[in-house]
Amino acid sequence: MVKICCIGAGYVGGPTMAVIALKCPEIEVVVVDISEPRIAGWNSERLPIYEPGLDDVVRQCRGRNLSFSTDVHRHVADADIVFVSVNTPTKTCGLGAGKAADLTYWESAARMIADVSLSDKIVVEKSTVPVKTAEAIEKILAHNGRRGVRYQILSNPEFLAEGTAVRDLLSPDRVLIGGRETPEGRAAVAALRDVYARWVPGDRIITTNLWSAELSKLAANAFLAQRISSVNAISALCEATGADVAEVAHSVGKDARIGPRFLAASVGFGGSCFQKDILNLVYICECYGLPEVAGYWREVIRINDYQKCRFVNRVVSSMFNTVAGKKVAVLGFAFKKDTGDTRETPAIDVCNGLLGDKAVVSIYDPQVTGEQVARDLAMKKFDWDHPRHLQPLSATEMAKQVAVAADAYEAARDAHAVCILTEWDEFRSLDYKRMFDAMHKPAFIFDGRNVVDVAKLREIGFVVYSIGKPLDDWLKDMPAVA
Ligand code: UDX
Ligand code: UDX
Ligand code: ADP
Repeated sequence: MVKICCIGAGYVGGPTMAVIALKCPEIEVVVVDISEPRIAGWNSERLPIYEPGLDDVVRQCRGRNLSFSTDVHRHVADADIVFVSVNTPTKTCGLGAGKAADLTYWESAARMIADVSLSDKIVVEKSTVPVKTAEAIEKILAHNGRRGVRYQILSNPEFLAEGTAVRDLLSPDRVLIGGRETPEGRAAVAALRDVYARWVPGDRIITTNLWSAELSKLAANAFLAQRISSVNAISALCEATGADVAEVAHSVGKDARIGPRFLAASVGFGGSCFQKDILNLVYICECYGLPEVAGYWREVIRINDYQKCRFVNRVVSSMFNTVAGKKVAVLGFAFKKDTGDTRETPAIDVCNGLLGDKAVVSIYDPQVTGEQVARDLAMKKFDWDHPRHLQPLSATEMAKQVAVAADAYEAARDAHAVCILTEWDEFRSLDYKRMFDAMHKPAFIFDGRNVVDVAKLREIGFVVYSIGKPLDDWLKDMPAVA
């Protein structure tokens, strides 16, 4: 019987292991983490992450062949396959600050594996890491491991997206496994392939060398983010010319070579992966002496920052160039719908931009708590290349300028403007007339996700801005300068 242990009970490790346990009842799966509250959460009725369908999967397997524990050493020692799914944030100081991946957690996990292992292990990179990390991990294990214990390192990057994690895991477009091209390496690849083959069709399991697998993950995220920056760049041109970005994206996406998905213009992409992975790609290119390639990918992030800035400028310029003391309702704070995750959410930059102009912001998100909002807005962003760097607010300023509302109507009451920053389904069917009646006039809606029916809202009386859509006369008269 194969035993699996996963180090890191986060957004990736938790759902991935739950689905492996569901599909492989004869494999014992243990997820370990150094964070006691995280593990307690996984063992409770209220899981530490919100992910549609996950409760059900965990309920079916927990106590059967899936468990969560803080006894990291024991479970790593017992396992045949050790997945490593720890966080790899962007370095905030020192060499490569603002770009390179911080491998502190990875290195300490690798040293711990070397310390406690008494039997051979397959060590699987699950979290996204810079290309050639496997080589560094191999060295740590070889130099620190016990005599006679052999390790094989595999790269098995995860492609799930938050909000659809369970669906993505149950029916992935592909599973990618990279390993050494030696007999031992091939055997390790085959062992991991056997795990996935219990539910993933064979032609969807791709095997490559280690470096291809590591680079494919960074490249895939860079390509996805690039599509969003491409459509967002076109959205600015649409507003300038009177074209409609939804019509343009639809027409472009009909070309089978391009395809229709991931072409929704927005206030900007967020999430824990896109920016981090592209910055990492940029850093790697620079390290390998490829400045042109680095510059190409850096532009994807620049356009994303430009898009967020452009949105804030549009809000401020439309409202007579000042939002000082005006209440602005912010609907949606998560980086996308169906998740409570706020890592790198565009809402942080937009809110900070509005607060920098002295607005009073009232935020509503169905899955994000007030404490999370306060933490995010108080956080000092690392100062890489930002068009304008804002100092975080003090606690007193925060209390004066930021409120968290129980619903969209409360957020909009007595507001001058509503900004929609996450595409939650419930924002499509709000009673906008009711909101309009409770707002100051002129009442503005700035839709950063193209969720509202622009014509209907204009009929109600709103001044409406929707990313990449033909502008109201009002907005044409108040041009936003970036
Ligand atoms: C292009 C568009 O495809 C077509 O829709 C438009 O109407 C006119 O421009 P064309 O220039 O005839 O058509 O050929 P295309 O197949 O698009 O190739 C353009 C160039 O890209 C060629 O030099 C081709 O070799 C190159 N290419 C294409 C690549 O280098 N890699 C690829 O994967 C595809
Ligand atoms: C992404 C990748 O999709 C996934 O394969 C990888 O494993 C992790 O990173 P995730 O960040 O969870 O997943 O969500 P995703 O759906 O990719 O959205 C990322 C950001 O792009 C969100 O802020 C989303 O709102 C934005 N987005 C997405 C757009 O603005 N427009 C789109 O058309 C699609
Ligand atoms: P991701 O989105 O990649 O899953 P998260 O930050 O959600 O990232 O999860 C990473 C988890 O890894 C965190 O819960 C963290 O406590 C855990 N972790 C980090 N380092 C270690 C370690 N050395 N041993 C065990 N768990 C770790």
